[in-house]
Amino acid sequence: MASLRPLLPIAALLLLLLFLISFHSDPPPILSRTPSHPLDPLTFDEIAAIRSILVSYPPFAAPNQFPAIHSISLDEPPKLIVLRWRPGDPLPPRRATVTAYSPPGHTHLISIDLPSGRVLHHSNPSGFPFLTIDDMRRAIATALNDPSFLQSLNARGLSSSDVNCAPLSPGWFGSEEDHCRLVKVQCFAAAPNFYLRPIEGLTAIVDVDAALVIRISDSGPGIPISAGEDTDYRYSTQRNKPRSFSNPINPVSLEQVGGPSYFIENSHVIKWASWEFHLKPDARAGSVVSRARLRDPESGEWRSVMYQGFASELFVPYMDPSEGWYFKTYLDSGEYGFGVSSMPLVRLNDCPRNAHYMDAVFAATDGSPFVRPDLICIFERYDGDVAWRHAQPHIREARPKITLVVRTAASVGNYDYIVDWEFQTDGIIKVKVSLSGMLLVKGTTYQNLSQVPEGEDLHGTLITDNIIGVVHDHFLSFYMDMDIDGPDNSFAKFHMIKQETSPGESPRKSYMKVIGSIAKTEKDAQVKLSLYDPYEFHIINPSRTSGVGNPSGYKLVPSATAASLLDLDDPPQRRGAFTNNQIWVTPYNKSEQWAGGRFVYQGHGDDTLATWSDRDRGIENKDIVLWYTLGFHHIPCQEDYPIMPTVSSSFELKPVNFFRRNPILRAPPYTEVDLPVCSVMASL
Ligand SMILES: *[C@@H]1O[C@H](CO)[C@@H](O)[C@H](O)[C@H]1NC(C)=O
Ligand SMILES: *[C@@H]1O[C@H](CO)[C@@H](O)[C@H](O)[C@H]1NC(C)=O
Repeated sequence: MASLRPLLPIAALLLLLLFLISFHSDPPPILSRTPSHPLDPLTFDEIAAIRSILVSYPPFAAPNQFPAIHSISLDEPPKLIVLRWRPGDPLPPRRATVTAYSPPGHTHLISIDLPSGRVLHHSNPSGFPFLTIDDMRRAIATALNDPSFLQSLNARGLSSSDVNCAPLSPGWFGSEEDHCRLVKVQCFAAAPNFYLRPIEGLTAIVDVDAALVIRISDSGPGIPISAGEDTDYRYSTQRNKPRSFSNPINPVSLEQVGGPSYFIENSHVIKWASWEFHLKPDARAGSVVSRARLRDPESGEWRSVMYQGFASELFVPYMDPSEGWYFKTYLDSGEYGFGVSSMPLVRLNDCPRNAHYMDAVFAATDGSPFVRPDLICIFERYDGDVAWRHAQPHIREARPKITLVVRTAASVGNYDYIVDWEFQTDGIIKVKVSLSGMLLVKGTTYQNLSQVPEGEDLHGTLITDNIIGVVHDHFLSFYMDMDIDGPDNSFAKFHMIKQETSPGESPRKSYMKVIGSIAKTEKDAQVKLSLYDPYEFHIINPSRTSGVGNPSGYKLVPSATAASLLDLDDPPQRRGAFTNNQIWVTPYNKSEQWAGGRFVYQGHGDDTLATWSDRDRGIENKDIVLWYTLGFHHIPCQEDYPIMPTVSSSFELKPVNFFRRNPILRAPPYTEVDLPVCSVMASL
């Protein structure tokens, strides 16, 4: 969920700044460069050229016919062409996909060929693209100009200039959401941290296209607005208060005396240790990792691991069925755009000093390109962890574990999602998600649990006076087009079961036995994780076997996660049906990338990963895509207030029988001469 404060200082300034950067300056030189890889994102100049093509495109050329541009992104060349391409070859024709919208109700999906300047396809699919900044602004202004909404604010002693409002997606529950594009506007009393001062129960249901308030729901008169005292999290306002630690921590930094060990070729190809991959920002997904390959230490051969990976969709249902809350069941990526919601990373704090930053170029609502600086950071990490070790009386060997992290941080309204793709020297790719930001809180008359009548469900935790942190879930579904040693792969499940011994066979009564099987069709690969019915899940290349005959593979290693408990027929769960299983495998299909569907805003959930997978297509020895949903249940607690310390979970893609032996056996250890000795000034 995203928020904006119309006509008011912080957001307005930020926007102004962005607009200044985007429209009134020449692009920085690095952004006007020409693309050099088939997967490179559209450049500043390319987006500007697409805008010109659209402006003179006959259906949009008449006065007032130009649609709102929701996104302009590279229409990637077919996978086969990308796989055949070699550095130095001419680039395949650059094409773009434009999603646009003409009110009321006309979504445009347009494919543009850049070399010829032609529109190749133009369709009007059903469904709505994610909200633009203009949509959000219009929805909020509409609510704040509505006399009865203002009256409800006035009844609470507030005027339109005393509030910050959030443009909330309404989900889909039936008839109301079928008629027009809706935004539910809820407001908060102004404060640096306004999310913690909800004006409870007051919602304007706005038809964004008509700029009309359809109705107002006010279930909250009498619920006080929290004072939000001491919730400003800026250091400038906190610095003179008692410190967090009795023993302050001295700053820590990783020094790389020899400089970084990665190379970035033509802005988007990252080479580090044995790894090489393409990396780009994306308006919807945040970041996209493509063509991840590594060089086999034994043979020197380049071996492919993953063609593409990204965060495909999120599902964030809140667990309060009341009028002001039931609809809060966000699909953040398809409703707000995970990439466009990512602000520049905070240098030295979001990413360490040794980080390199990558900028993004996105399209504004009028189609003009703008630069979002520092959207991705890339850095080498040494946490003091061990890569491998062994000690015995006369031999002690250990190796430090150094990794390469690719990080983005999306701020979708109140919440922040930090997504890391971490590449390890041992071939592991670890995907880690960390949550921070503000709770979405509910106002209440209660100031103490002792006031709550027995049996009343708060749907959350009373975290401070008059504030409930509402229980909710977060699910992130990751798309991973695995290409282990080539596109044709299979999904193998290794079931671990209890095997009982025969009478007299052994002093043991039982042991754990592993039974392997290959998933033939999509339904065989719909997996619900269970601790007491365990499996290992491998993506293997059946036509590439090791010297001893094992197929080359990578396994998916889940860690702490959560599954949705909503009814499968609950409208939010139908829209978030990609969370019905933790693992899915589908045949590669360029049109099936967004787990909740391409157009999810007010969508009915009829184009989700669950729909595709139920076709039960063959997936054996084919180009397949692995999907994993990482989940978090969140019962808020007092420490999540006023801003949450990060909560993380992760999963790994780990080589299994891919390398002949430990691929980092010959990595050298550190010695004294490798590392600088920095001395503390002698004033202590
Ligand atoms: C809140 O209730 C508890 C008992 O449940 C009591 O000990 C405490 O003093 C109360 N606090 C206030 C501020 O009333
Ligand atoms: C590819 O995906 C689209 C959208 O789901 C679907 O209509 C089409 O049938 C799929 N193609 C194949 C071969 O499965």
